[in-house]
Amino acid sequence: MGNFKIIGIVGSHRVEPRNTYYLVERVLKVAGKGNEFETEIITLADKKLNYCTSCFECNHGPCPINDDMSEIYPKLLEADAIVLGSPVYIYNVSGRMKTFIDRSRAVLFRKDANLKGKIGAGVVVGFVRNAGAEITAQALRNFFEVHQMFYAGTVIGNSGRKGGVTNDDTGKMFAIQIGKRIKELLIQLKNVQLEYDKETVDKIHSKIY
Ligand SMILES: Cc1cc2nc3c(=O)[nH]c(=O)nc-3n(C[C@H](O)[C@H](O)[C@H](O)COP(=O)(O)O)c2cc1C
Repeated sequence: MGNFKIIGIVGSHRVEPRNTYYLVERVLKVAGKGNEFETEIITLADKKLNYCTSCFECNHGPCPINDDMSEIYPKLLEADAIVLGSPVYIYNVSGRMKTFIDRSRAVLFRKDANLKGKIGAGVVVGFVRNAGAEITAQALRNFFEVHQMFYAGTVIGNSGRKGGVTNDDTGKMFAIQIGKRIKELLIQLKNVQLEYDKETVDKIHSKIY
């Protein structure tokens, strides 16, 4: 088991071809290289996700909706880094990704179960590079901001060519960069936490002895 858990959430509505999945996987391969890293990709296309009903139960307890989000919440809470991947659907995130984002409110206001301080990165894949990709990237970034996470950046890929995003050299290059950035941030953050723990421990010891 690794020290760091990195999960990818793929918001495409189809299983094949897997352009968004491909770039998310590439980010995770770079970020998750090494024994101390553990990665997992969750594809929303094969999950049953209901809309948020705006009941506000999550202001003081868990989300009462009984669907596949129940198995995704613990994975989000356990993760050290979360990579959100969405195709561009009419200049924005996919409906599935938006439903996931809305349902994430269930881990927004709880003191004991939230995403604060985790690392976040985005993956966006559009048919072309200039038809809503940056707006979609902003929508993913808003998720990280709302949850008070540390933002590592977003890679924009484009699938409108033979072979799809697998032949987008720019997208693939940025995926590697984002993957490295996640890894660096994870290590830096862990060191800060270790340092903090050491100080706390030292203080406790100085009081005892
Ligand atoms: C409903 C729908 C709307 C789309 N709208 C856009 C768009 O506004 N801009 C764009 O660049 N691509 C658009 N596309 C193309 C997808 O973003 C593109 O095919 C992407 O690679 C799909 O990712 P996937 O292969 O992971 O499913 C749209 C596709 C669908 C199905």
